[in-house]
Amino acid sequence: MPEFNPHCLACPRLASHLSNIRDMYPRYFARPVPPFGDPKARLLVVGLAPGMHGANRTGRPFTGDHAGILLYETLHRHGFANRPVSESVRDGLTLKNCRITNAVKCLPPGNKPLPAEIATCNLYLQTELANIKPKSVILALGTVAHEAVLKAFKLKRKEYKFAHGAQHALPNDLRLIDSYHCSRYNTQTKRLTAEMFDAILRQARELLAG
Ligand code: URA
Repeated sequence: MPEFNPHCLACPRLASHLSNIRDMYPRYFARPVPPFGDPKARLLVVGLAPGMHGANRTGRPFTGDHAGILLYETLHRHGFANRPVSESVRDGLTLKNCRITNAVKCLPPGNKPLPAEIATCNLYLQTELANIKPKSVILALGTVAHEAVLKAFKLKRKEYKFAHGAQHALPNDLRLIDSYHCSRYNTQTKRLTAEMFDAILRQARELLAG
């Protein structure tokens, strides 16, 4: 199994949704969105799925998405990105020792992938996680990402409860950090503040250093 297939049509509902989006928005990327960043990185950020007018439009995770504003700004502050703003695939942004992927690579209707779609796309995440360097840190943004990571390792949810700021030991000396997703909803309601997210990236940096 590859870690990504740009021509994947494995989920009929998502494939037909993307085909409709391509008709409606011919300039949109509207394909499976590939992971972005250094394949040898020791920080892997796992998001949910491309946003309609963000990653689904630009073709890069969290790029043009409201959620990407806080994500890239914070990655930059902690030295994981060369610039704080992610606008388009041609903006010169590079990640350092960091890679960003999504639990589901295709835009899901209403931002809600079905359990079967999460399970199908999990095969890609499994390969991605199997190739990651030992002692790496996986940062799960939200419960869907958290559960996708557990699923990829065939771990039981009740033994690895999601909590903002929680750390979990994973096989192969990997570590999982949970964070609330940096979505517009979570940041506007202050469920996740810039300070809280900064502390999560600090935690990741400390784990990598230690
Ligand atoms: N954009 C992404 O690529 N992933 C998310 O989880 C949210 C927005």
